[in-house]
Amino acid sequence: MANLALLTALGDASASIFSDKLNHASLIDGALLAKAPLQRYPHGNLALLERQLARCTTPVKLIVTDAVFSMDGDLADLPALLALAERFDAWLIVDDAHGFGVLGARGRGSLSHFNLCSERLIYMGTLGKAAGLGGAFVAAHPSIIDWLLQTARPYIYTTAAPPAVAHALSASLRLIGGEEGEQRRTHLQQLITQLRAQLATLIEAYPTLGWHLCDSATAIQPLIIGDNAAALALAAALDAQGLWVPAIRPPTVPTGTARLRITLSAAHSAADVQQLLDGLTRAARDLTGALA
Ligand SMILES: Cc1ncc(COP(=O)(O)O)c(C=O)c1O
Repeated sequence: MANLALLTALGDASASIFSDKLNHASLIDGALLAKAPLQRYPHGNLALLERQLARCTTPVKLIVTDAVFSMDGDLADLPALLALAERFDAWLIVDDAHGFGVLGARGRGSLSHFNLCSERLIYMGTLGKAAGLGGAFVAAHPSIIDWLLQTARPYIYTTAAPPAVAHALSASLRLIGGEEGEQRRTHLQQLITQLRAQLATLIEAYPTLGWHLCDSATAIQPLIIGDNAAALALAAALDAQGLWVPAIRPPTVPTGTARLRITLSAAHSAADVQQLLDGLTRAARDLTGALA
């Protein structure tokens, strides 16, 4: 809803929207609902984005990106995107659903991770992930916030977030910014390293399956399977072993890249990751047996 609010309020007829092709559905829908014309650029193709910006003649330009891409786990090149925004007098809207609370100093998110600070940044963070609640917030230049307060219909025409959420959020923010948050982030990083190393070994041991990893350093660690039915069968095989790993298929991800979306959390343990690896190894053994 925050993304719908942002893009419809800022993306009026005087604006153009430039959006990464792998952006989250809420950004895509916001851009489609906005009056501003939409141009999408292939994932991470900043050379093409640069050409699109150079051709653009509208007074307002909005570059829109996930900070951590929700289905691949990779980080947008935010420093390069901000440099383009500065060069072409554009705003940079950053959806940090998966960075807020996890990345950067004291969990302050992707902008802190890259040490970025600029009046051109419009930062959207969600509260349903690291903060453990629901809802979202926008942080930006006061002129943008004022514009949103006056014109963002999904914000204006709905009841405000309940006080209980605000109260719980104060507790979440204390946890995120404090020593316990630091420990959880360190633990999560160790799980990510463990999982990636073990998955790489597994993939190498069963090359005929054609599985591969994404170039992700975050808690989202998809295992690309390729075929839709194969991804579903693998998720079912894990489910039968008490492991819940959703199979994500087109249209959520591009055709031919069905995947298990493994999402680590600080609430997991090293033993949980090992259990997942054992489950995947069993499935890989059964599948290669069936293929042989
Ligand atoms: C990048 C991104 N933006 C926005 C959202 C929406 O957040 P919420 O589920 O809190 O509405 C999600 C996922 O749910 C997401 O992955």
